[in-house]
Amino acid sequence: MRWSPFLGIPLLLALVSFIVFKLFPNSSTNLTPLGQRLFTVEDLAPFNGTDTGLPILLGILGSVFDVTKGRDHYGAGGGYNHFAGRDASRAFVSGNFTGEGLTDTLHGLSSTEVKSIVEWRDFYFKTYTFVGKLVGRYYDGEGNPTKYLKGVEAKAARGAQLLEKQKKEEAKVASCNSRWSQEEGSEVWCDDGYPRLVQRPVEIALTGKMSKRCACFKEDELGQAGLEVYDGCDYFAKNCRL
Ligand code: HEM
Repeated sequence: MRWSPFLGIPLLLALVSFIVFKLFPNSSTNLTPLGQRLFTVEDLAPFNGTDTGLPILLGILGSVFDVTKGRDHYGAGGGYNHFAGRDASRAFVSGNFTGEGLTDTLHGLSSTEVKSIVEWRDFYFKTYTFVGKLVGRYYDGEGNPTKYLKGVEAKAARGAQLLEKQKKEEAKVASCNSRWSQEEGSEVWCDDGYPRLVQRPVEIALTGKMSKRCACFKEDELGQAGLEVYDGCDYFAKNCRL
């Protein structure tokens, strides 16, 4: 049989692509959607929106998404360009898009903050295309979740439970009505009962901070521990100006 050049060229091309794929499995030509591509920090960096010929990629909790369709936000000059070409998970709650703020460590964040970052990751799964994983803090060299990622997910789940508990606890005692105006300032009042300041039950576990709310208590409940009368407000006032 004679060797046909029409058959030879496609065969040659197929051979060359196979060799390139084997030699450079992580090259930018291998950006398969929904792929399990593993990125290093250095692999991810060029996809930061500067080169308009490349897709724009964003890492969050080690998951990498193609956010090219959001070029207005993530491209050069966009308000969220700092998220492109890296994993800056912490900045999703800190809002610090500069220098040390652009980090993937969540050290010291509260469970609600961690939960909020996990929700951002959900947003990217829903809105953009998942293209792979970033090897480092959240995924190991085999693409398996690290202890750190499992810890983050557990903390977020705990945050969700605590928020649920907080909601249930707060529903037991009605919140005060409140209004604010430039001329009159703030005012709280109860249609039924008396306004008292109370510590939110699970707030410290949730956010690491103290936080109080105004709730309405009936006359026979006013002796409970932990109820604070507003400064300058009478014990039996239904309405308090702050
Ligand atoms: C922690 C602070 C903040 C973070 C991490 C953040 C993050 C983001 C991200 C990632 C997007 C793009 C979402 C997408 O891909 O569609 C976005 C969109 C947007 N952000 Fe923020 N943001 C923050 C604060 C703010 C603030 C303070 C404002 C307003 C004063 C704001 C206004 C907007 C608006 C209007 C859009 C949508 C723009 C559009 O769809 O054209 N953001 N934000």
